[in-house]
Amino acid sequence: MSVLQQGLGVGLVAALATSVGVLLVQANSNNPPAPPTLADAAARLEKRLEALEKLMPGPGEFMRSVQSDFAKLYYAVNYENWELATFEIKEVKEALDQAAIALPEKNGVNLVGLVDAMKSGPLAKIESEVIAKKDGGAFKDLYPDAIQLCNGCHTQTGNGCIRVQVPSAPPVYSQKWEPQPK
Ligand code: HEC
Repeated sequence: MSVLQQGLGVGLVAALATSVGVLLVQANSNNPPAPPTLADAAARLEKRLEALEKLMPGPGEFMRSVQSDFAKLYYAVNYENWELATFEIKEVKEALDQAAIALPEKNGVNLVGLVDAMKSGPLAKIESEVIAKKDGGAFKDLYPDAIQLCNGCHTQTGNGCIRVQVPSAPPVYSQKWEPQPK
């Protein structure tokens, strides 16, 4: 096929496509699409929300943050790094809250209530008796008290296989536990 013939062929196809397009537009203008109803818009939003929900971190992801921050809290207190301890206990509480938002209830167990009990019980005590007083003395007992509530909720929610213990090694190797030199 010569270049000229090819050019003609392309031109013909383009012309055909344009006339089909014109016909379609005419057909459409005789019968304009109905404007989207509120129900259509709601259904579309619902679909988008469902997709977003699938992308959201689940309770397990938040619990992995709880686990890591709770272990960091242990090292922060043991190194008397009170600033870091203040930071980590706040992170633990936040991640617990997020887990309870992701899973407010399971098998009739009220996770929001159990998280509140954890925050107002052993975590509040660690804040007032250990961190605020800059005294690690009570931590030996309060940390295991908190662990009991971690594991209590795991048992109650059918996750008894997840057993938290006092860390036997730091949760990460890339962080210093000592307080910042003044
Ligand atoms: C209010 C209930 C509750 C409390 C309190 C709680 N957990 Fe959990 N935890 C859960 C549930 C439910 C799961 C399972 C989540 C899932 O279904 O993905 C879980 C899962 C975990 C996991 C497994 C995550 C994984 O995917 O490997 C770890 C680790 C964990 N929790 C640590 C802790 C620690 C540490 C504490 C205490 C500081 C704690 N949890 C307190 C309810 C709780």
